[in-house]
Amino acid sequence: MSRIVYLNGEYLPEGEAKISIFDRGFLMADGVYEVTSVLDGKLVDFDGHVVRLARSLGELDMGNPLSKEELLVIHRELLMRNDLVNGGIYLQITRGAPGDRDFVFPDPETTPQTVVLFTQSNPDLLNNPKAENGIKVISIADERWGRRDIKTVQLLYPSMGKMMAKAAGCDDAWLVEDGAVTEGTSNNAYIVKGGKIITRNLSNDILHGITRAAVLRFAREAQMEVEERAFTIEEAQAADEAFITSATMFVTPVVEIDGAAIGSGKPGNVAPRLREIYIEESRKSAI
Ligand code: PDD
Repeated sequence: MSRIVYLNGEYLPEGEAKISIFDRGFLMADGVYEVTSVLDGKLVDFDGHVVRLARSLGELDMGNPLSKEELLVIHRELLMRNDLVNGGIYLQITRGAPGDRDFVFPDPETTPQTVVLFTQSNPDLLNNPKAENGIKVISIADERWGRRDIKTVQLLYPSMGKMMAKAAGCDDAWLVEDGAVTEGTSNNAYIVKGGKIITRNLSNDILHGITRAAVLRFAREAQMEVEERAFTIEEAQAADEAFITSATMFVTPVVEIDGAAIGSGKPGNVAPRLREIYIEESRKSAI
């Protein structure tokens, strides 16, 4: 069955959804995106993603073409039309196709934005072997631009990072700048030491993860201590546990960094417990 996707107001079979070669998303990576998890056919943290989308658009002087209510209707329509149970919905908004290549932003009055949404099924969302066994990461220099708080579609360096990890026989890479970990290529990074959860503080250096916000809230509610500050790879290698969070991986333990086993080299107690709480709470609040 062909997937039904959304493009600029229409629901179309994926093969019929076409955009211009002049689209600024294609030519200049001039676009933003969101990935919302779908759990048991429902949207996880929808409000959080809509708020971050509005912020990303605003930071790039892009208009917000759809209201929260309209976005919810589209998300639900796609879920229904594609019978999506577990996975995610990808949304991308670009500055549109002005009909030529120009560095200067086009006039939004004459160049409407391009809006694309599609579903991505992931039957292993809950029973991901990586969550069970943990993942191995390498560290690499963070060579992305300076506004990582904006969720733009310029993902070449994160892709290169994942390829470097793959070449090293690992699952992912943690990015290091000025001696400290910023985040993972497509997730936020954490360590646990003496029961305390440590993760980098929010700034323009990292994406303000929606999963991060929820997990830290649940951790604090469960009386776990949380410290938001930068940490080094050496500190991470000497930690009791490490883990990542994202809309696609939820909470996933990290068991090795640059070849050094973390703790026992197996997932500890904190990350699996946080994953359990996160899934339980998300199931309750998903819409
Ligand atoms: N990535 N940091 C980066 C650089 C990310 O790309 C992501 C998400 C996160 C976690 O954010 P959230 O918890 O809101 O998913 C942190 C998405 C999942 C992706 O690009 O597929």
